Amino acid sequence: MSSTVITNIATLVTNDPSLGDCSPLGLIQDAAVVIDGDRVAWTGESSKAPATDNRVDAGGRTVLPGFVDSHSHLVFAGDRTQEFNARMSGRSYTAGGIRTTVAATRAASDDDLERNLTHYLAEALRQGTTTFETKSGYGLTVADEARALRIAAAHTDEVTYLGAHIVAPDFADDPAGYVALVTGEMLDACAPHARWIDVFCEKGAFDGDQARAILTAGKARGLHPRIHANQLSYGPGVQLAVELDAASADHCTHLTDADVDALANSATVATLLPGAEFSTRAAWPDARRLLDAGVTVALSTDCNPGSSFTSSVPFCIALAVRDMRMTPDEALWSATAGGAAALRRTDVGRLTPGAYADLTFLDAPSHVHLAYRPGVPLVSGVWRRGVPVA
Ligand code: NIG
Ligand code: FE
Repeated sequence: MSSTVITNIATLVTNDPSLGDCSPLGLIQDAAVVIDGDRVAWTGESSKAPATDNRVDAGGRTVLPGFVDSHSHLVFAGDRTQEFNARMSGRSYTAGGIRTTVAATRAASDDDLERNLTHYLAEALRQGTTTFETKSGYGLTVADEARALRIAAAHTDEVTYLGAHIVAPDFADDPAGYVALVTGEMLDACAPHARWIDVFCEKGAFDGDQARAILTAGKARGLHPRIHANQLSYGPGVQLAVELDAASADHCTHLTDADVDALANSATVATLLPGAEFSTRAAWPDARRLLDAGVTVALSTDCNPGSSFTSSVPFCIALAVRDMRMTPDEALWSATAGGAAALRRTDVGRLTPGAYADLTFLDAPSHVHLAYRPGVPLVSGVWRRGVPVA
């Protein structure tokens, strides 16, 4: 196995608080990283780096753990420009637009869906994302949900069954029948392709009892729950996530004090998705309130053609810092180690010995520039599993 040392790193973010400056980001200045095969073998000051077979000069750039985008919806076809235009002219977001994407997705071929997925994955990779989760949820038939998951599973291990995105249009008059399908035949067809099960718990989608039934059925088939919770209104989603030990409650835009307390006393991560509030002109989730209460927060894109059509984690970091009162350090932690926690992973989202050598290079003296220089393409290199890929 060949080893490589990357030297001349202005700031290295390890996410190991025992290293460097002892902050949660574990920052090391004038740093080096040694990579053995696909894993990190050593991190420290450049002057102390051990000799290796290969040497790479980072040219004074910043190196971060690759972003962990723990929430996206990338198996889809079609476009909702008109809906976005209408919103920007004053219309409000409703989940009803999901039906437009369901129709386009059902009509698309497998090749079309795969081409679309790989297009957005390449886009995300160029912006520093090295781990991503993605969901079904735009098929809503047994065959269409299973094929979405099959296509996703060819590109990531973090695949989520979201048959319960909305009640399928074909079951508009029989929501109970649709829940029976999602927990029965559709679950049987989908479980082999997925690691996670998700439900959109919201007025107009699934209520608390339906969501509990769906997630419990998924758990019984070995899928672990995550949940779209409290996005458009107050509701039972967050409490249900905690009750079922969901890895993550996603959106968390409308929270009571009891919701915040429940999250703080649980292993459930609050995943905030500011691209959705940006693209729907909604009020921001209160990241500060969650962080001050001791909740673990992740930051992800929610990339989908309706509510958040961005694949850019740097953009979400800038929004979180400017509009959700996160510090640049907190936002970066949430987009790396926080995303890993939301996927219950310890092998990504950090640059510590034994973790995957997934590295994002920034053409900047520190990670703070991600928020300080919003909209500027600072990502100038990406390594995944020890290999340069962008
Ligand atoms: O996470 N909230 C539910 N699902 C997506 C939006 C899907 C869509 O509008 O197509 C979300 O925001
Ligand atoms: Fe979502």
